[in-house]
Amino acid sequence: MSDKTYTLTAPDGRSAELPAMSGTVGPDVVNIGSLYKQLGIFTYDPGFVSTGSCESEITFIDGNEGVLMYRGYPVEQLAEHSHFVEVCYLLLNGVLPTADELDQFTDSIRRHTMLNESLLRFYNGFHHDAHPMAMVSGVVGSMSAFYHDSTDITNPKHREIFAHRIIAKLPTIAAAAYKHSIGQPFIYPRNDLDYCSNILNMFFGVPAEPYQIDPIAAEALDLLFILHADHEQNCSTSTVRMAASSSANPYSAIAAGISALWGPAHGGANEAVLEMLEEIGDRKNIEKYVAKAKDKNDPFRLMGFGHRVYKNFDPRATIIREMCHKVLKNLGQTDSPLFELALELEQVALKDEYFIEKNLYPNVDFYSGIIYRALGIPTSMFTVMFAIGRAVGWVAHWDEMISEPGRRISRPRQLYTGSDKRDYAPIEKR
Ligand code: ACO
Repeated sequence: MSDKTYTLTAPDGRSAELPAMSGTVGPDVVNIGSLYKQLGIFTYDPGFVSTGSCESEITFIDGNEGVLMYRGYPVEQLAEHSHFVEVCYLLLNGVLPTADELDQFTDSIRRHTMLNESLLRFYNGFHHDAHPMAMVSGVVGSMSAFYHDSTDITNPKHREIFAHRIIAKLPTIAAAAYKHSIGQPFIYPRNDLDYCSNILNMFFGVPAEPYQIDPIAAEALDLLFILHADHEQNCSTSTVRMAASSSANPYSAIAAGISALWGPAHGGANEAVLEMLEEIGDRKNIEKYVAKAKDKNDPFRLMGFGHRVYKNFDPRATIIREMCHKVLKNLGQTDSPLFELALELEQVALKDEYFIEKNLYPNVDFYSGIIYRALGIPTSMFTVMFAIGRAVGWVAHWDEMISEPGRRISRPRQLYTGSDKRDYAPIEKR
């Protein structure tokens, strides 16, 4: 709490004293919790543009300066020096692990990768052309029917097992969705492989012949997962917190987060970017599509551009653009026409008055799809890859919320604009 207060005066002269709260860094927030009691009014902020929904110690973003920190560590440093499993430990525990702690954590993640065989049989119920996100959210939700031994959310040990299961099993669930969609046999996880190599093996391995894991592909995946690992109160994370605030089964809450992530305004954008680049097709069409994006009467938006919080640049996009160069070079795909098109589209948009004035910059998803494509991951799996990386963020926020003393169910208010009271009319009189 800070010693500042804000005074809100009503038209009738009554006023409410509202205390400010200060975080470690970032702007103060005004605590409006007592506003209804004091003045009988609610606040109105659709889309939560100016509203903080919770206190959190996990991630900090300064959208004007392009800053992103996990537990105080700049994402650029983590991207350069750390790896995804260590970042998972950091997000969940608040500190970097010692060598022993990291060994134990890595071991636990490795040992939770297998799925119950009954859960695996669920895939046969899905049509072969079901979207992988539909399968993944369905199967993750179904985990609530399997792990009754670990759903006492007041028990820290249960919460820890839940966290490890989600991080460990999501790649297996994703790989099973992919294999089902292409009609190939499921490849079981291998505990001798690191997190990302295991994913590549489950995705691209077949029982008929050995699969050679490309370490550069594994490194690229690892980096993308670090950059996607958390992003404070984004749509899917807020969904997880909201769903779980009723003390709902945590697997169901994560399934809700996966569903929220799927939308093209959120994690679904990486899939939409690739579809958009394919639709643009050639650099000669860029001007036409930029004009469409600016036309208020045209629903087309430049996918992978703009962000609710970043109004200068998205630091993740800068790192991913660099990674894109490296991956394409190492995979011998430097002449990727999609990457060329993306680079040119970015340049045209960044010089355009409309995008400058509205502070629209490439976001994390503008380039991530190009890397996934280069690694051979199909477009429909892009958002699933995002979900694998973001799962740890959802779990860390869930755990933070559940552990909060005095936690309350999330229950926003509304401005009612429907009909005033009216009397029921019998059907023959309507
Ligand atoms: N192309 C064209 N115009 C855009 C775009 C875009 N990509 N993004 C925003 N604008 C315009 C809006 O039309 C609006 O114009 P107006 O002020 O004249 O009405 C203005 O910029 C502000 O945009 P809002 O939609 O109000 O911003 P908001 O914060 O609500 O939305 C969002 C942010 C959803 C990311 C939006 O920029 C968008 O739809 N981008 C494309 C989808 C995308 O890339 N999503 C991924 C985001 S990153 C992530 O979730 C992982």
